[in-house]
Amino acid sequence: MGLLDNKVCIVTGGSGSVGFASARRFVQEGAKVMLVDLHEADLKRSAGELNSRNVATFAADVSDAAQTRAYIQATVDTFGKIDVLFSNAGNPGQSAPLTEYPEDVFDRTLAIHARGAFLACKYALPQMNDGGSIIITSSLAGVRGSANNISYITAKHAQIGVMRSVARFAAPRNIRVNSVNPGPIDNEFQTNIENAITKLTGVNATDMFNQQIPFKRHGRPDEIAGTVLYLASDLSTFVTGAVHMADGGMTS
Ligand SMILES: NC(=O)c1ccc[n+]([C@@H]2O[C@H](COP(=O)([O-])OP(=O)(O)OC[C@H]3O[C@@H](n4cnc5c(N)ncnc54)[C@H](O)[C@@H]3O)[C@@H](O)[C@H]2O)c1
Repeated sequence: MGLLDNKVCIVTGGSGSVGFASARRFVQEGAKVMLVDLHEADLKRSAGELNSRNVATFAADVSDAAQTRAYIQATVDTFGKIDVLFSNAGNPGQSAPLTEYPEDVFDRTLAIHARGAFLACKYALPQMNDGGSIIITSSLAGVRGSANNISYITAKHAQIGVMRSVARFAAPRNIRVNSVNPGPIDNEFQTNIENAITKLTGVNATDMFNQQIPFKRHGRPDEIAGTVLYLASDLSTFVTGAVHMADGGMTS
């Protein structure tokens, strides 16, 4: 028996680091998984690595309403009604001082994270089974500020607002809604952010983060996937509306 036997799951950002690691755990636990991401080629590669007939893919931009409706409908058509929505797609914004911060980057980053999570919940909920689970990937950046990336910080805070609102809305159907908030993860997404901060501040951002984390290291994508699996599965049936830090104690 797997923790997600025959559960229908959507993973956005499914060809990225955390999304793919989570999709792999979902499949190992018996789930049927729709991977959603921007580019068909990346999706095909990810699905090939998972190598399971319980995996399908759909190329979509999560900030677009029509494309959101399309990936949700494709999931229902392929696997049936949805049990788990993992709204995880994200971009890193841009590291720049506030007074020079590009307005288009601010708008785009909000659109991907906040609007993307809102649209996913709005259009998935009518197609979800009662008792299901929604998980939104926010961040350490969702609970504290930073001088140098206002779009990302604002977007990750906004996702917690989406999560709390949808948790209240979905509770009568026994659908849980939570956020997972990773700290710095050892992957390309975070390395690029840290390289930009290092360039901007002259301080080695990777070392700085490791010093600030009580575990003295970055997290691994599979460690975030473990938290996501807990929230997706019946191990967390009384858990909703909550922010789940997975940050090695960085916010303690
Ligand atoms: N890496 C970290 O240290 C870290 C820490 C905290 C939170 N996060 C969050 O975790 C989530 C996953 O990030 P990751 O670390 O796996 O990075 P990643 O870049 O490997 O994965 C993100 C995925 O989202 C996809 N994506 C971006 N914009 C999209 C859009 N408009 N529509 C559809 N897909 C889109 C990308 O193509 C990519 O595959 C993001 O929400 C990120 O903000 C990451």
